[in-house]
Amino acid sequence: MEFNRKHLLGLEGFTKKEITHILDTAESFKEVLSRPIPKVPTLRGKTIVNLFFEDSTRTRISFELAEKRLSADSVNFSASTSSVKKGETLRDTARNIEAMKIDLVVIRHGAAGAPHFLTRCVDAAIINAGDGAHEHPTQGLLDLMTLRDKFDNLKGLKVAIVGDIAHSRVARSNIYGLQAMGAEVALCGPATFMPYEAAHWGTEIFFDIDECIEWADVLNVLRIQLERQHKGLFPSIREYHALFGVTRKRLDQARKDITILHPGPINRGVEIESELADSECSLILNQVTNGVAVRMAVLYLLSGESEDGSAKGGES
Ligand code: CP
Repeated sequence: MEFNRKHLLGLEGFTKKEITHILDTAESFKEVLSRPIPKVPTLRGKTIVNLFFEDSTRTRISFELAEKRLSADSVNFSASTSSVKKGETLRDTARNIEAMKIDLVVIRHGAAGAPHFLTRCVDAAIINAGDGAHEHPTQGLLDLMTLRDKFDNLKGLKVAIVGDIAHSRVARSNIYGLQAMGAEVALCGPATFMPYEAAHWGTEIFFDIDECIEWADVLNVLRIQLERQHKGLFPSIREYHALFGVTRKRLDQARKDITILHPGPINRGVEIESELADSECSLILNQVTNGVAVRMAVLYLLSGESEDGSAKGGES
């Protein structure tokens, strides 16, 4: 199948066929990662810049690793040590970087829409590594890959996204991706954590975590994004944990097997009990492993290269 997108800005509008193609490509790169020398020449000669205007551990490291595993040349940019500190704009930063002949740009930015803006400033392919509270498409894809590894078919799978939905780019990318794959999606959290648009997403909405656990096959548990909250949306961390924290006791009460995802970073003892995050029902580290393979697949599909390193050509 041809992959006819120039950029990866979000999963909104992606079809099941497109997502399946990315996940299948990621599975083939996962095999590469299990080899004694986990490296292929696929992106030799391509230059990639990782523009991180916000902190990151998982996304940044896994993009860097994916680029190295594909033999690309990559450059890392941190806003905190750049000329952004001297007042340079995003547009000027990007155009200066492109003048150094960059093929792909990976960008994380606190402003929703920053990656879309970049597509109008530079010719390089743009990959959204998280823009404000909008989308985090490679996180959505690695979550889908992790669920597909366990359940094979996502059709009819009941996935509940629990926590600070309003400020979560992970929630949006998961909703679009899961619905495209035929899963049923629910949201759960305090009313103050539900965005206005939630009513139009076609999801179930729970304000009671025990009812949500009763319904779900999978819980994707989110951190409270204090850095994006401008006013008090909940009384205290302690009360949030008491009312919405995912705990062993709650799962035992529901008497069912449940699978737990979490995009990280985890605030142990807040949204999830520490022991549960490391338990047999947690796929949190599988998500991290799949992140490298998914990012290799996305970089490859947007690069216009074939798997042996020759140019595919003809892609827009
Ligand atoms: N899941 C995620 O985006 O984690 P980082 O912020 O560490 O990249």
